[in-house]
Amino acid sequence: MDIIKKRRSVREYLDKPVEDEKIEQIVEAARLAPSSCNSQCWRFVVTKGDIKEQIIKKGLGGIVLANRWAKSAPAIIVACADLNFLTHKVGAGIKGIEYHLLDIGIAVEHLILRATELGLGTCWIGWFNEREVRKILKIPRSIKIVALITLGYPKGELELHEKQRLDLKKILFWNKYGNCEG
Ligand SMILES: Cc1cc2nc3c(=O)[nH]c(=O)nc-3n(C[C@H](O)[C@H](O)[C@H](O)COP(=O)(O)O)c2cc1C
Repeated sequence: MDIIKKRRSVREYLDKPVEDEKIEQIVEAARLAPSSCNSQCWRFVVTKGDIKEQIIKKGLGGIVLANRWAKSAPAIIVACADLNFLTHKVGAGIKGIEYHLLDIGIAVEHLILRATELGLGTCWIGWFNEREVRKILKIPRSIKIVALITLGYPKGELELHEKQRLDLKKILFWNKYGNCEG
């Protein structure tokens, strides 16, 4: 619970590289996540240096300029889903649930929490130019780019803090949907 409370979206980073061993440790946490039919459709591309700069310039340019703060992050992890799993296609068709997105969401949260535990900051970026990122990283069409995760040592401490969230009674119901107060 402490790690969950410490985690926040970090949008300002120190000018200090993240050790490859730490990146491996956080991706290891993602590797252990649950997934639909244990399909493990997640794939991660770690970008640093010049390639990362290209991602910032082209992948976060244009209409997604709001995410240019990512420039200070020493690394960006590109989280992708392999779309080649029959189980996901059947699931989406029958249930209308995009299981591959759930799998990536859980894996990325594992990764983010492990990063927090190691004193690293992250921020999920959902707004990016997929076409440009695909081009820069040579990602094939059968792979969906789901998120960009900035990674680095945060400017300022990661501390336990109150989060702006809905009250528990607004989201937790017992025995029927909706609360008694109506
Ligand atoms: C799916 C998803 C997409 C997000 N996209 C962006 C984004 O494009 N840019 C950004 O600055 N933050 C983005 N965020 C971060 C949210 O704004 C942030 O998690 C939320 O405001 C709660 O703040 P906290 O993470 O500090 O607790 C995204 C988060 C999620 C889960």
